[in-house]
Amino acid sequence: MAIFPQGFLWGAGTYAYQVEGAAFEDGKGESIWDRFCSQPGTILNGDTGLVACDHYHRYREDIQLMKELGLQSYVFSIAWPRVLPQGRGEVNARGLDFYERLVDGLLEAGIEPFATLYNWDLPQALEDQLGGWLNRATAYAFAEYTDVVTRRLGDRVRRWLTLNEPAVTAFDSYESGEHAPGHRNPREAWHTTHHYLLGHGLAVPIIRANGHADTQVGITLNFTAIHPNSPSPEDREAAHFLDGKYHRWFLDPIFRGEYPADVAARLGDYMPDVQPGDLDIISSPLDYLGANYYTRSVVGASPDGSRAIDNFAYFKQEQSAHTTMNWEVYPSGIYEHLTRLHREYHIPNIYVIENGAAFEDTVTSDGHVHDSRRQHYLREHLLQAHQALSEGVPLRGYSVWALLDNFEWSLGYSRRFGITHVNYETQQRTLKDSGLWYRDVIKNNEVK
Ligand code: FCB
Repeated sequence: MAIFPQGFLWGAGTYAYQVEGAAFEDGKGESIWDRFCSQPGTILNGDTGLVACDHYHRYREDIQLMKELGLQSYVFSIAWPRVLPQGRGEVNARGLDFYERLVDGLLEAGIEPFATLYNWDLPQALEDQLGGWLNRATAYAFAEYTDVVTRRLGDRVRRWLTLNEPAVTAFDSYESGEHAPGHRNPREAWHTTHHYLLGHGLAVPIIRANGHADTQVGITLNFTAIHPNSPSPEDREAAHFLDGKYHRWFLDPIFRGEYPADVAARLGDYMPDVQPGDLDIISSPLDYLGANYYTRSVVGASPDGSRAIDNFAYFKQEQSAHTTMNWEVYPSGIYEHLTRLHREYHIPNIYVIENGAAFEDTVTSDGHVHDSRRQHYLREHLLQAHQALSEGVPLRGYSVWALLDNFEWSLGYSRRFGITHVNYETQQRTLKDSGLWYRDVIKNNEVK
């Protein structure tokens, strides 16, 4: 049993491209994800975000659903090309109107909007004209976009997140090529990391300037428990490096104003071009950190010692439970990261912005989804988060990924993360057992 503190903020989330649909409606411009999905072979089953959960048209119904759940906050993202179809310059008023309607609807329902400015759907025009995040000019375009959005919504949205998971978008988009724009070039990936971070840093004072005294700003980073495959020095070094690559490379510039020297030393010409003053911009003080956590990665050195290898395949098959993402269920990893963020980075306020699991779900003939594994996953992770809280970690809230089943990037609609089931043929929403359970957690402020 775990009772959470008074005022602990319970939420759930979705992001624009994954749920909105209406990909070309009301003046929205093309995003790199629209383009990527239109290229054969990029997305499982040829799925696209053209319709997704049709949230653009059904947001009222979805707010109703949030009310039924008793949600206190809703994490969502704003689609940059809906607001600025060409990425810069002309504003699409109808795009901004949509987010205003969404925010007003949330506020009327007593749900705190937690707005993320960027979850990976860069305007295609900036990709074409500037080379997207490979060009530092895109960081400045992001700042302009931030200004446009926060001028309009800064009077009522009090909680902002600049970017979601810059590490994931840098390395999946430019190294593994699984995400738009699908490049496979590690040097490019490292270069973009700095531009994402610069964009974040430039946005922070703009959000504050367009807000109120109580406006709060942060960024969301993703954390994986990275453990060595064996106690050998090579495997431990591999784990240390990957922790550097995926975590410290982002935490250190933001919270310490410097890139981690041990990682930088290994980069050679992969090292991004850091200009004087950039790190001051990037380390602009934040009100909180958004932390996402899903799984553990067991890593080691390649046989010749030259590379760190992620996620040993055999480990996935042989040990513990896995989700349909093939992600290991490893609840104590959330505790490990929350306590580490507190201990090593002294972050004043932390929100878990995403945590959740994909499992195969079926709707029974009487309209239920008995997703006991998801419920178990959420419960175990919340108990670990509570343990961190009880040891003094300033955890202020928790948001489930996701409110709805949705478009899971290159895996399309094949992976369901929702606490609400979505029938993509009819767009019918059905609260899963995990959602009903979460409703009680929120109501009682307690995990039993
Ligand atoms: C995170 C993303 C989110 C969702 C979950 C499963 O990395 O931020 O959009 O796809 O994974």
